[in-house]
Amino acid sequence: MRTNAMPRSRVRGRALLAGALAVLGTTAPVAPSPAAAAEDTLGAAAARSGRYFGTAIASGRLGDPAYTTIAGREFDSVTAENEMKIDATEPQPGRFDFTAGDRVYDWAARNAKQVRGHTLAWHSQQPGWMRSLRGGPLRQAMIRHINGVMTHYRGKIVQWDVVNEAFADGGSGARRDSNLQRTGDDWIEVAFRTARAADPSAKLCYNDYNIENWTAAKTRAVYAMVRDFKQRGVPIDCVGFQSHFNNGSPYNGNFRTTLRSFAALGVDVAITELDVQGASATTYANVTNDCLAVPRCLGITVWGVRDTDSWRSGQTPLLFDGSGGKKAAYTSVLNALNAASEAPTPG
Ligand code: XIL
Repeated sequence: MRTNAMPRSRVRGRALLAGALAVLGTTAPVAPSPAAAAEDTLGAAAARSGRYFGTAIASGRLGDPAYTTIAGREFDSVTAENEMKIDATEPQPGRFDFTAGDRVYDWAARNAKQVRGHTLAWHSQQPGWMRSLRGGPLRQAMIRHINGVMTHYRGKIVQWDVVNEAFADGGSGARRDSNLQRTGDDWIEVAFRTARAADPSAKLCYNDYNIENWTAAKTRAVYAMVRDFKQRGVPIDCVGFQSHFNNGSPYNGNFRTTLRSFAALGVDVAITELDVQGASATTYANVTNDCLAVPRCLGITVWGVRDTDSWRSGQTPLLFDGSGGKKAAYTSVLNALNAASEAPTPG
């Protein structure tokens, strides 16, 4: 007996309905499985294709219910905007302070969000004591710092930005001059090897800005470094594209080529700090579709919740206005995510 099957009359009814709609120029699913309903939050919509949609969280705003309501509802990944940086986590040499970082981490964990770690080795936001170090002592301090922070968060961070912004702007393709760079060219690979040993469960990322345009010298220089690391077995798992788009560094349609090219080296890619001057809905949709087009693009993080939370608030570059209202860019991102196909079933 056909106990679980749909009665023949219902099947026939559906077919007739589909046929009628087709005549009217309307499409209807003929298959009995219902099409997945559109999701109404960014995180849920990104999850349709196995990706996440994150935001930067500032610990100082966690007491603002308007902020936490939006952040809690829309995003399923969190990056601490400043709280896991070097000056925050090691204010005195060898004396670690995770108070603010844990505030962000704990909020994320309580709200079932994954966490991107940001960032372990960087020329900027170094505490005063580190800024004044040079040579061997600075190299040792970098290693101690990576070990100290990664040990504290071991097993809890999905991706770490191990090294941030190590390349120079402009056409040189050179490394950025910094106290870390002056300890020797190998400082980046030492950072990655140290990081792999400190927390083998985290994906280890190189993160930078102005590396989205495939024709830029800076992009090609980072690409050459990642290729070299993969060839020599230096542990690197992902590249983060900050994606701060503005009039000076506008979005270019070749971003997808960049993401594909890096992925072809055998690393994952992620959009890690997205904001767009003026928040063009088209640009936001393009960036979203670029990530969706590349299987190794893990997800997208926007650099803040409302325009008023942005480090560049004057550019109104985010998805929510200062009153928490959804902007046109929000809708274009959500629609792009919802249009993505379901994640393939594992196995
Ligand atoms: C920015 C924060 O948003 C600001 O609050 C802070 O004053 C400076 O840093 N690239 C990065 C981020 O990797 O850490 C930066 O965040 C923005 C540029």
